[in-house]
Amino acid sequence: MNIEEVKEELKTRLSTPRYEHSVGTMKMAKKLAKIYGEDEEQAEFAGLIHDVAKELTKDEIEKLVNGYDIEVDEVEKQNTKLLHAKLGAVIAREEFGANKEVQDAIRYHTTGNKKMDKFAKIIYIADKIEENRIYDGVDKLRKIAEKDLDEAILVMLEHVIEKNTQRGIKVHPDTLELREELIKNKR
Ligand SMILES: [Fe+2]
Ligand SMILES: [Fe+2]
Repeated sequence: MNIEEVKEELKTRLSTPRYEHSVGTMKMAKKLAKIYGEDEEQAEFAGLIHDVAKELTKDEIEKLVNGYDIEVDEVEKQNTKLLHAKLGAVIAREEFGANKEVQDAIRYHTTGNKKMDKFAKIIYIADKIEENRIYDGVDKLRKIAEKDLDEAILVMLEHVIEKNTQRGIKVHPDTLELREELIKNKR
């Protein structure tokens, strides 16, 4: 499947705003891949399909979880929205032939994970700063991301952790671990 075919397929699976978000993520992922010397084509592909599982129905989610023996942790049980990352990785592999690096980037794009490589970090942050995203500080974050991926992710994580805590949503342990790791590496 070439990137145009992937786009056509995605249009059938996603609402227009989410499709546009996916294309925005694709563009930002390519831009960052160029800056950081990662494979631009793979980055485009991963950015484009990272949310492929975001609009699955409850039934479809259940089928996939059972069919592929996907482990659902405690936090995911409470906040099933998180699951679209793991499910997206499986769909990317099974239906789009994604390689391991792309699968991992998709798997980690929502909670983050301390095992993320540079490629996964690009997809993580591209998702949060793509051109359709509007929130206080997004422009500043775009600038930081072009200079320092880890710093951009750290700023994002602080934001996510604060927001979830305010709303009473449990922060995923992987998110907290990644923050610890990034803070440790800064010293
Ligand atoms: Fe997502
Ligand atoms: Fe996304």
